[in-house]
Amino acid sequence: MKRRNALKALAGLGVLAATTPVFANEEGFCNVYKFYRPEIKNRTKMHIKNPAHPTKGELKHTPEIKIGAKNVKGYTLIEITLGQKGIIHPSTENHWIDFIELYVDGKKIDIVVFEPGKAMGYAAFNVKLDGAKKVKAVAGCNIHGIWENEVSL
Ligand SMILES: [Fe+2]
Repeated sequence: MKRRNALKALAGLGVLAATTPVFANEEGFCNVYKFYRPEIKNRTKMHIKNPAHPTKGELKHTPEIKIGAKNVKGYTLIEITLGQKGIIHPSTENHWIDFIELYVDGKKIDIVVFEPGKAMGYAAFNVKLDGAKKVKAVAGCNIHGIWENEVSL
């Protein structure tokens, strides 16, 4: 318990952040490489301001979630793409989707971390969804912040 309190105190001072590239903040959103990579400029949680009329920038950053078929082992394919309606987020050395996280019923399942300019913002997972009610994707753009989308099953 003393060790946990000491780690919390160090984290509060930013001491651990300099040596720990991956951690979750108090909201549960991942701050991948926040201090490790200087190119990651924005970890603000973003929202579509008017869901009835999203802007191109909002569509480009909002994860699209596709629930696929269940395989013979009982795992369901979940595909996550950035962004929506054919407006795809770029992947360059200076501007890229740096991570995609998958949550099922609020529980973090996994994360994919991307190097700058190497791959588009896409991830696929095979997950057991038996009885699950919601699937959420959270994605980070190094410049435009953290965006999420959730679908009900
Ligand atoms: Fe972006």
